[in-house]
Amino acid sequence: MESIPLFSVREIKKIYKDKSNWFKKGRVVEIGPVSFDLHRGETLAIVGEAGSGKSTVGRLLAGAELPDGGKLYLGDDEINWNDSKFFCQNIRMIFQDSQKSLNPTVRIGDQLEQPLLFNTRLNKEQRLERINNALRKVGLLPEHAGYYPHMFSGGQAQRIGIARALILDPQVVIIDEALAPLDPSLRAQVINLLLELQETLQLTYVLISHQISLVRYLSDRIMIMDQGKIIEAGTIDDVFETPKHPKTQKLLKSLDM
Ligand SMILES: Nc1ncnc2c1ncn2[C@@H]1O[C@H](COP(=O)(O)OP(=O)(O)O)[C@@H](O)[C@H]1O
Ligand SMILES: [Mg+2]
Repeated sequence: MESIPLFSVREIKKIYKDKSNWFKKGRVVEIGPVSFDLHRGETLAIVGEAGSGKSTVGRLLAGAELPDGGKLYLGDDEINWNDSKFFCQNIRMIFQDSQKSLNPTVRIGDQLEQPLLFNTRLNKEQRLERINNALRKVGLLPEHAGYYPHMFSGGQAQRIGIARALILDPQVVIIDEALAPLDPSLRAQVINLLLELQETLQLTYVLISHQISLVRYLSDRIMIMDQGKIIEAGTIDDVFETPKHPKTQKLLKSLDM
């Protein structure tokens, strides 16, 4: 693994006013401060119970939400949180429900073309070539560009989600609980596809999951989150073999059942 990180996240945090429960109105939820590095070509897992702050960290890293503090560096360069073009091109997310995250009334080809129109100077022919390539990369066909989202199965929709994430050749892909809802054989297919793409494109993955069992064979390093904080971090083997925090031990114990 490279010793110089690709991205460095330093002390990012987000403060929410909790509106979920009338009785707790005004209660404040604080996620972070959280710091970590991302190396090219590696997979970092973020694991923790529901509500521990995993998706918030993912959204901050993807520039989908502005932090209430903290910095992001690409090498030595500090990234401006408002530079939406930078995030669009470099850090993409794949969501749990790809079917829902697609616009039902717009053909797949047009949905894949949108980021190319906004972020590149490619001409029509070049854009179509990119779209064909993206579809091929995820095991679909150029014909599928003419389809609407409802014409795809769940597994195919997940592949479209991956194609859309990859269309601008990002460096980092955040996979937020996108594997859990798939049945085991489909999940294995999508995992193989992600591993293949990682190898050929040198992608860095941030794999978010509340199921520790899902991340072991995919990840190089792992961060455990609890109530907005990182309670344990290390290589996947170290954390699985000698978990230090009681909550990590509990998460791992639940695997034996
Ligand atoms: N937009 C929001 N407004 C208010 N509270 C939020 C918002 N997003 C997340 N939260 C709160 O932040 C905490 C962490 O949420 P989240 O990052 O979604 O956790 P996870 O992905 O680990 O389940 C939860 O308590 C959640 O209610
Ligand atoms: Mg989440």
